[in-house]
Formats: sequence, C-alpha cells, structure tokens
Amino acid sequence: MNNKKILVTGGAGYIGSITAKVLKEKGFQPIIFDNLITGHQTSVGKEKFYQGDLTKDIPLLEKVFKEEKPEAVIHFAAMSLVGESVKNPQKYFTNNLIGALNLLKVMLEHQVLKIVFSSTAAVYGEPKKVPIDEDDPKAPTNPYGESKLMIEKILKWYGEAYGLFSIALRYFNACGAALDGSLGEDHEPESHLIPLAIQAALGQRKDFKIFGDDYPTPDGTCIRDYIHVLDLAEAHIAALNGFQKGFQSYNVGTNHGFSVLEVIQMIKNVSGVNFETPIGPRRTGDPSQLVAKAKKIKKELGWQPKYSDLKTIVETAWKWHKNHPQGYGK
Ligand code: UFG
Repeated sequence: MNNKKILVTGGAGYIGSITAKVLKEKGFQPIIFDNLITGHQTSVGKEKFYQGDLTKDIPLLEKVFKEEKPEAVIHFAAMSLVGESVKNPQKYFTNNLIGALNLLKVMLEHQVLKIVFSSTAAVYGEPKKVPIDEDDPKAPTNPYGESKLMIEKILKWYGEAYGLFSIALRYFNACGAALDGSLGEDHEPESHLIPLAIQAALGQRKDFKIFGDDYPTPDGTCIRDYIHVLDLAEAHIAALNGFQKGFQSYNVGTNHGFSVLEVIQMIKNVSGVNFETPIGPRRTGDPSQLVAKAKKIKKELGWQPKYSDLKTIVETAWKWHKNHPQGYGK
C-alpha cells in the first residue's frame, strides 16, 4: 500500500507527528487533521494540514475525505492524560468518543474502511500478571483507558456490521524522539517520567520526584515497558500493511520493563548531571508493573522494536529537549 494518502488525525501531536514523518519517508502521503489543542503547528512540517476538531468540524472532515480520498486513517487525535481524565471524565468521554464516532461516520459515508487506532496499555488496568497478553482481562482504572476500550469495542461491532477493517495498537510507554532531534515530546502540563527527569537534568526544575519506592519490585519503584516513538511509528506502518477481516488488537511494547530508578540512572549517565530525586508518595492509580507481551504483533505484522533500548530512548529524548529548551513554544 505505497504512494497512498493516509489521513492522520492528531498528526500534530507527539506520536502522530513522528508517525507522519516516517510515513512520508516510506512513500506514503500523510494528510494531517488536528485541532492544535494539544498538538503543535510547528511539528507538522510540509505535510498537507487541516486544522479541525473531530467533535464539531464535520463539514471540514467531509471535505477532507471528498478532496483527498485517503486510503486509510490513522486515528491518534484524543485527550490522553490519565490524571486529568480522573478529574474530568466528561472531557475524555465527550472528546474521545464523539471524535471517534464522527470520524467513523464520515469514513463509512466515503467507504474508507481501514483504520489504525491509538489504544493504550491503560485498557488493562492493574494487571493480574506480567507480561500482559492481548487476551488478558480489560479493567481500566481511569476514564482515559475506559474511553479507549469503548472505542475498541465500537470498532469491533462496526467491523461485523459494516465490514470495517481496524487495528488497535495498545501502546505501552511511548518515549524518545526523532533521531535527528527535530521532533519530540512536549506536553502541557508535562506528567511523564522521561521529559520531567530531563527537565531536572537541564536545571529547568529543581528536582525529579519519584512517586513511591515501596512497590513489590526489585528496587521498589514502578516498572514500565518503554517503547521508542520511532518503533511505535513503524508499528502503524506495519498495521497499514497488515489488516485482516474485522477488528484486531496488538500490544506495542518490548517484553521488557525498566524501573523508575533504572530510567533515572540512564538519564544521569547520558546528561552527565546528578540531579536530586526525592522520594514522594505513590501516585494514585499507578500499577506496580506494566510490561507487554509483544509476540502477536511480531508474528502477525512482522514488527519488532529497533530503537527501544534504554540508551537510545534517553539519548534521543535528551537531544530533543536540549535543542528545544522551551519545547515547541506556543
Ligand atoms: N513517575 C515518577 N515521577 C514523576 C512522573 C512519573 O516517579 O514525576 C513514575 C510513575 O509513577 C510511573 C513511571 O514514572 O511509575 C512512568 O510514569 P509516566 O507518567 O511516564 O507513564 P505512565 O506509566 O503513568 O503512563 C503511561 C502512558 C499513559 C498510559 C499509561 C498506561 O503515558 O498514556 O502508561 O497505564 F495510559
């Protein structure tokens, strides 16, 4: 499926913009649709860009499908902060569900029947065992994860009724930046481990607080499966080439976890800065371990991570943050 137009909703965001870049490098033509609420205009590059909101700009979306005739859609656009979703579930259910439903409506009207959907490890909630298998129980512990699981179910039913081909990619911990340092992670407010700890190394914040060191893990800090954003981008391309009938879901992770302390140590090594890391209380809702079993995606889509060693992750993230001390700016 090359030289084809792919509509990338949320293509001005962290994972969306880097996936658009990789799509282009592989001969696809990404068409970006983003409301720029959390995305950044400067991360769009030379791609064709439509500024619009999936929850309300349906005429614009219809125009995009009519004029661009995309082959398939990659749907990133969503609200994605776990903590915020607990405080304001209405924002998450309204934005994520209505956005997805409107997008699917217009896709069906235009007979665009292929969609790759950004899902999350948060659909599993607190896992009973790690590594987590795609078939393990889904019990989200926050509205963000719940909204993504609801959309997965919608995709499945649309597959049965309307012949929609869909792939949900359940991301574990997205991190890292483009190798050339051009595109990286800039959330407002920032809540993620690697950017926050790098800000501490750059002296932009006083210290980095570790949320609990009394978890049942070897060093007492939480373990996560960190997946380089370039590997995530490639998983989307593998998905575009790997649709099967109906709905499929895949974990996108590495089968391996690192503790918060291990990540911090790598950031100290790469930056050469020994910033302070006081221990604070646990953050509500943090599972002690989240590690993907990522065998299905390898077997069925032929995807495996290439950039997700901790050193490459931290080096690329460090390069981006050092070159963008103010992030993308607003
Ligand atoms: N952490 C700290 N201090 C901080 C920030 C994070 O100690 O200031 C710890 C967290 O407690 C956690 C680890 O660093 O143990 C990673 O935290 P992140 O916030 O970077 O990422 P999460 O694992 O909480 O969240 C990620 C994705 C979400 C997704 C979730 C699945 O960012 O989108 O995994 O549960 F929903």
